[in-house]
Amino acid sequence: MSHPFPFTALLGTALVCATATAGLAQNKPTATPKATTAASNKQAALLVNDAKINALIQKMTLEEKVSMLHANSAFAAGGIKRLGIPEIMTSDGPHGVRPEQGRDWKGVKNANDAGTYMPTNNTLASTWNPALGYAYGSVLGSEANFRGKDIILGPGINIIRTPLNGRNFEYLSEDPFLISKMVVGYIKGVQDQGVAASVKHFAANNQEAHRNDVDVTMSERALREIYLPGFKAAVQQGGAYTLMGSYNKFRGTWATENAYLMNDILKGEWGFKGLVISDWGSVHDTQKALRNGTDLEMGTDLALMYKSVDQSAATASTAPTAVRSLYDQFFLADAALEAIKKDPKLVPLLDDKVRRILRVMYATNMLDGAKRQPGTYNTKEHQATALKVAEEGIVLLKNEAGFLPLKKTVKTIAVIGANADRENAMGGGSAQVKAKYEITPLQGLKNALGNTATITYSPGYKIARDQKADPQLIAQAIATAKAADVVVYVGGSTHGYDYSKWSDNAYDAEGVDKPDMNMPFGQDELVQAVVKANSNTVVVLLGGGPIDVSAWVGQTKALVEAWYPGMEGGNAIAHVLFGDVNPSGKLPFTFPVKLEDSPALKLGEYPSTPGDPLKQTYKDDIFVGYRYFDTYKVAPQFAFGHGLSYTTFEYGKLSVKPGTQSATVTLTVRNTGKTAGAEVVQAYVKDPQARVKRPEKELKAFEKVFLKPGEAKTVTLQLPAESFQYYDEATKQFVLEPGQFEVLVGSSSRDIRQTSNFKL
Ligand code: BGC
Repeated sequence: MSHPFPFTALLGTALVCATATAGLAQNKPTATPKATTAASNKQAALLVNDAKINALIQKMTLEEKVSMLHANSAFAAGGIKRLGIPEIMTSDGPHGVRPEQGRDWKGVKNANDAGTYMPTNNTLASTWNPALGYAYGSVLGSEANFRGKDIILGPGINIIRTPLNGRNFEYLSEDPFLISKMVVGYIKGVQDQGVAASVKHFAANNQEAHRNDVDVTMSERALREIYLPGFKAAVQQGGAYTLMGSYNKFRGTWATENAYLMNDILKGEWGFKGLVISDWGSVHDTQKALRNGTDLEMGTDLALMYKSVDQSAATASTAPTAVRSLYDQFFLADAALEAIKKDPKLVPLLDDKVRRILRVMYATNMLDGAKRQPGTYNTKEHQATALKVAEEGIVLLKNEAGFLPLKKTVKTIAVIGANADRENAMGGGSAQVKAKYEITPLQGLKNALGNTATITYSPGYKIARDQKADPQLIAQAIATAKAADVVVYVGGSTHGYDYSKWSDNAYDAEGVDKPDMNMPFGQDELVQAVVKANSNTVVVLLGGGPIDVSAWVGQTKALVEAWYPGMEGGNAIAHVLFGDVNPSGKLPFTFPVKLEDSPALKLGEYPSTPGDPLKQTYKDDIFVGYRYFDTYKVAPQFAFGHGLSYTTFEYGKLSVKPGTQSATVTLTVRNTGKTAGAEVVQAYVKDPQARVKRPEKELKAFEKVFLKPGEAKTVTLQLPAESFQYYDEATKQFVLEPGQFEVLVGSSSRDIRQTSNFKL
């Protein structure tokens, strides 16, 4: 579907400014200059070799050009020996380089592919520390180099819209601003190693239920304010070399072949100069893929193997199908060659795709005799980064009367819950990682305590499909809990192990959404029995999203969210529980009390339009996550941005310096406790009077400050024009409506410590 005014956003800065001044005089909504001007758009870096690239394209035959546009095996594509162009190697994924799949998905025996397993992306988001985004990306880039990969298929940055999305663990947040801040560092970290990041999945891929055929519709405002800003930041500020198109349809057209998303917005408005890769099997049509923005088609071999593609479209060639490889049958293979031969007007489109691929190849040191950086694998430094991200990403949700940190003088600790003794690295789908090692929570506690305490373990539940509470296991757990001084309950969700049938035992996995928001395997019953048996219990949750804790959270003294914390996760959990690390993670999404409270279900149509499983209208619109809970006055279980510390912070008075269309906020934050710690100072903006309905408040700046006991620091937060804008459907642009604004600064979206009003 094409946009009526695709070029509005391409207006030069001067013209937009002129409009802005005129608007101010009349006190009307005003368009404001873009934060990223053409000069600061990081995409420009991709253009430096265009002269050489154009010369190279001149030397290619039509057949050679087309051979660049599609996979030649499971994860590799292109390659023209005659011209010294190597094939391009991709690999998942978002939190570690995936084990070798082989050229035919059958794996590679004896591969050196057990590497660093980083905490999942929502753990990274919970650190609210962009510097860790960079460190995280550097590990991935370095290990990708070592493994001979040119493109890492990550980060995943789709908006966390529903608690049930099976892939939430691969994503960052419900908030576009937090996503934008975290993704830029990640991308730079990967790409500074000479490896391309591939930001996925563009766009509106917010659920796994019917991910291959759901048609998503949403307002233009929701698209612009909620679902696109992370991708835009990835492109313009992160300088992403590649993006991955998603499986779903968007407003009636497959996202990967969607002219509006790919041509008008991504390559047009945002000036993306890199390469659009399809998701594995997301291309459906030769003409549309050629014309509408897909540059490299991957994974159609899978669709062909499972016979889910339209054979007549994919095999338009006159060559007998039997002698053509799966790869010749791709939409951008023989069929594209024929189409271009018939219609030479398509050649410039073909050249544009080849040019984009070659730009990325130059940027990743693949051409002109440049050498790949050697990369390193499984270094102590990489493991230390995995540990650091886990330690900063773990969120202390509840801590009654300072129950935590636990004292190391404790004599017996009961560890309850099968999650305590389970490895998760290989689970979840394409994001699987073969970890060099994985410290489970149980092992982490043993490492922390050595011989100083007795640790007893009781699984309490069995991880298996449809597993209900097991009275015998519960009885054992109760006995174990009763005999101990302190109980560490480790539960929550799990990843599936078995890639071929991961939906069988997985609650956080690709291809399936979760059935509900509860802890599986009868844990609600178990955890209540354990807390009753021993009130000195801390509950540690693993999982890739919010969990319904309402039945028992009132009974437990402390609650810790540890996500999937990577290869060093068990150590990180122990460090937090015993106070070697003061927790500083903050929730990157809201925990609703009940699933029914979440806006995708309350206002929206998740998982589909009633009566039509293939349609989905985002009626929740811009009211995603806390934007809904705050505006509609629904109390969450745990608010967006929430996370406790073992120390306390005092927020000084705000000083706000308004500019014409911006503001600078300054305040002093002091550590008033006895422990060093870090606080994430969060600034939300409220527009009390607007022509359109705006959220109660929106996150527009934050900073993580590290403070010794008694120490104070001055925090300065910049609120540029975008902080105050909304997307105006009538004029198809972001506007700033002059008038009163309020800035709210606090420790979470629901723990506001200071506010200030001012006029713009
Ligand atoms: C996933 C992508 C992944 C690709 C390759 C697809 O099924 O959606 O995220 O990168 O497979 O493994």
